[in-house]
Amino acid sequence: MLTASSAGRVDNLHALRLRFMQMEDRYRKQALEMGCALVSLVDVRDAYTGSHSSRVATYAHATGLRLGLAHTELDQIVMASLLHDIGQIGVPDHILLKQAGLGPGESIQVQKHPELGWMALKNIEDFKPIGLIVLHHHERMDGSGYPNGLKGDEIPLGSRIIAVAHSYDALTTNRPYRAARTKQQAFDELLRCCKSQFDPSVLDAFMDAMNTKRNSSSNASFGRSYDHADGSDFLLLPTSPAE
Ligand SMILES: [Fe+2]
Repeated sequence: MLTASSAGRVDNLHALRLRFMQMEDRYRKQALEMGCALVSLVDVRDAYTGSHSSRVATYAHATGLRLGLAHTELDQIVMASLLHDIGQIGVPDHILLKQAGLGPGESIQVQKHPELGWMALKNIEDFKPIGLIVLHHHERMDGSGYPNGLKGDEIPLGSRIIAVAHSYDALTTNRPYRAARTKQQAFDELLRCCKSQFDPSVLDAFMDAMNTKRNSSSNASFGRSYDHADGSDFLLLPTSPAE
């Protein structure tokens, strides 16, 4: 039987635990709001980049689910997908929006965008792991990517997922200089670059997710599922933190 003083201690502990849970909820909400504010900056910078990032996030989420990733890691990868090109804010318009090929100096400026994104995110405590994923999303499995020439498993898993997702989206989207490839043509191109550029197990999970009708709503922690044009179900991301 509890004495009055021990019952009081239990009540205090319960109140304290409740307080910590409320603080944690508020902290997570603030982090998500900050992420959404940063995402809106990407949208403002370039309409293509904004919609590209949302599609990359849906592909990355489906791939992460297929790989059986935990919710926390999946959330970080989705947020990193939305922000992966945020560093393009630091690339001048006349280069970013150029429709013809880039000169050598211009390519170097474009290739700085992962580091610029990392610099923007690294000082926010909750966004450090997200910033690392952003930093390495242009690395390649054979070490020929940038900025650090990381190889294989040295590349964060989230970056390897985004590498596949953003390449697929780039291939299947109409660009000023070429028409969109079909899904099968894009798959063929990704498979051609498997091992040299992409992680085979990630590519396998991505293609599996793209080919399989599934309901991701039960696992979606950032939003709800919707029917993708090609028949796969993918995550529809919220446009505001309240959604
Ligand atoms: Fe990029």
